[in-house]
Amino acid sequence: MIFSWVKTAKPPSMKRESSKNSWESSWESSSAAQMPKIGIEARNRSEVNSPRLTTLLDRLFFIRATTSPAKQIMTTTLENPKSHIEHGYDVVADKYLAWSSARPTTTRMKYIADLVEKLPTGADVLELGCGAGVPATQVLIEHGLKVTGNDISAAQIALARKHVPEATLIQGDMLALDFAPGSFDAVLGFYSIFHLPKDEQVLLIEKIRGWLRPGGWLLCNLQFEEGDVTRHGWFEPEVIMFASGLGVEGTRDIFRKKVLGFKLVVDEVDIELVGGTEERFHWIMALKEDASAD
Ligand SMILES: C[S@@+](CC[C@H](N)C(=O)[O-])C[C@H]1O[C@@H](n2cnc3c(N)ncnc32)[C@H](O)[C@@H]1O
Repeated sequence: MIFSWVKTAKPPSMKRESSKNSWESSWESSSAAQMPKIGIEARNRSEVNSPRLTTLLDRLFFIRATTSPAKQIMTTTLENPKSHIEHGYDVVADKYLAWSSARPTTTRMKYIADLVEKLPTGADVLELGCGAGVPATQVLIEHGLKVTGNDISAAQIALARKHVPEATLIQGDMLALDFAPGSFDAVLGFYSIFHLPKDEQVLLIEKIRGWLRPGGWLLCNLQFEEGDVTRHGWFEPEVIMFASGLGVEGTRDIFRKKVLGFKLVVDEVDIELVGGTEERFHWIMALKEDASAD
């Protein structure tokens, strides 16, 4: 069983054996699917605890890197990924919204519903990388929560301002945010925290622990694969996009060894079918246990 290593409340259903990582999927089901696949870099993507899955992932990246040499751009590192990400989302904000509006949101909505049940009306919620504010921010507002949304992209914040004028919106790098300890009942990040370099993700989770009140919740999804992924020509030829992750065990180690004081309530790799291909992310819901860990 390929996913026997994944600790889940209930095992994720494997619909078929072949799979694509999240970036392959969003690439191919995006409106840019017809554009030339210019280049991919994947580094340190080891330690996926399934030889079969590792082979599949390697094959996917290898095929892309070798079948169209004329279009190939292989880089070993991406300088200043955040400026690429900010510029990238500024450029593709409308296209991304059109693509993401059409994608299923079953998993995200399931976890949001679980979380909202735990929060009192008027609870303070921070959403990191809120994008255009739909559907997540909007749903949170509709449930009577007091939402602060943050995004690095001015274009995304402008869209969010239209969709969720009730939210307090802050443009900037999520890692640079500064809030008083115990400001929030929940901190959320959907498809956003994986844009930070993996070591910064640990620092962010440490900061989140400080921003949360005891009994507060962290809900986010993180990259399933370990390593950095740089994608050239994401939605638009000029856009270079970046994502990173510690892998499933590496992410668990954050909570086991690096940022103590959270109890993992959801720790699940979930698979969703998007545009005919499978997307998988590591979903985390964690409870800040008590103030004594601070
Ligand atoms: C894939 S989109 C997801 C948007 C929204 N959460 C959703 O689920 O539709 C990722 C978002 O994270 C934002 N983002 C990426 N890196 C960020 C950072 N360092 N700080 C704040 N926002 C960031 C991007 O600008 C983008 O809007």
